[in-house]
Amino acid sequence: MTDKTLLRALRGEVLPTPPIWLMRQAGRYLPEYRATRARAGDFLSLCYTPDLAAEVSLQPIRRYGFDAAILFADILLLPQALGPKLWFAEGEGPRMEVTASAAAVAALKPVSAIHETLAPVYETVRILARELPRETTLIGFAGAPWTVVSYMIAGRGTPDQAPAHALKAANRAVFQALIDKITDATVEYLSAQVQAGVEVVKLFDSWAGSLKGADFTDFALKPTARIIAALKARHPGVPVIAFPREAGPGYVGFARATGADCVAIDNSVSAEWAAGHLQPDGCVQGNLDPALMVEGGPRLISETRRIVQAFSRGPHIFNLGHGITPDADPDNVTRMVEAIRSGAGPGPGPAPH
Ligand code: CP3
Repeated sequence: MTDKTLLRALRGEVLPTPPIWLMRQAGRYLPEYRATRARAGDFLSLCYTPDLAAEVSLQPIRRYGFDAAILFADILLLPQALGPKLWFAEGEGPRMEVTASAAAVAALKPVSAIHETLAPVYETVRILARELPRETTLIGFAGAPWTVVSYMIAGRGTPDQAPAHALKAANRAVFQALIDKITDATVEYLSAQVQAGVEVVKLFDSWAGSLKGADFTDFALKPTARIIAALKARHPGVPVIAFPREAGPGYVGFARATGADCVAIDNSVSAEWAAGHLQPDGCVQGNLDPALMVEGGPRLISETRRIVQAFSRGPHIFNLGHGITPDADPDNVTRMVEAIRSGAGPGPGPAPH
């Protein structure tokens, strides 16, 4: 059907060499990214200028020959398209106009209005679908609702999502209404990305780890399941990668319960544990420590090989446990890719069917 390795792994095929891409592969560790960002002026202008956004998505593909490109955008463009102001204070990360009351939730624009703001993102997708090498898969994405509302409620990034937890405790109805709004908007947004040409979508739930017990089920698992069901109803067969970061034991059964084709894991769980507990349900993506992209040396190679080996009996997409950091050495990425593509072979024992 397809010879694209990433799509084959997502369908459950066990490949002799796993497909490779890296979270935040289009980013500040690359000098060519910094040059294009300087041309755009600032980060949001880069996101909303399709030619330049497509260019930074292509840069790591040219340099490393990764198996997948990720659309260049940000998870906070969707809430911005619903009305709240968004800006990036230099060195401080994202800032947003706060949405934390019934009135503020009611004042958000209707879901159908998002396309007006997000049209340049769809244009970036169309350029990439045209320009990527034929063997490279194009990944679209959105933030998962909990992670997105955590920024909307606090107006910024927070280490523990305390403002979002506080609203959830104080006014469950308003909190739920905000989750529902973002869930619906995310279906609409991802559906438009698929129509424009993305072949896979990923849901980033970067802060899923702070949801415990029933909250994890209600606000990480259920919204993800709703998005995946609605998206697959509109686009049958579109593969989805879910990343409930730092879910720990919550990773077990997450793909099955949400309908995701692949669960992406951080590096707080071991590859051996994940191979045993998660791979029986399907493809697993991960999970090299991003610090090794800075450190390099023999541990980079041995840990890379260990992860490839641990996952070699099931479907696997090689990636980091979180985004590559701005202080990573681009040459370490080359060394990692070589270690995977030269050292791999089928693991011992029969591959499951
Ligand atoms: O290669 C890619 O992955 C490019 C596309 C992409 C970006 N952000 C570009 C970006 C993707 C998929 C994201 C996801 C994203 N954005 C997440 C989820 C993944 C994760 O890392 O947990 C989150 C939480 C955000 C929100 C966000 N955007 C933050 C917290 C920050 C500031 C921190 C930082 O890394 O600077 C951003 C800015 C951002 N998004 C940059 C990039 C390349 C850096 C902007 C710059 O200064 O050039």
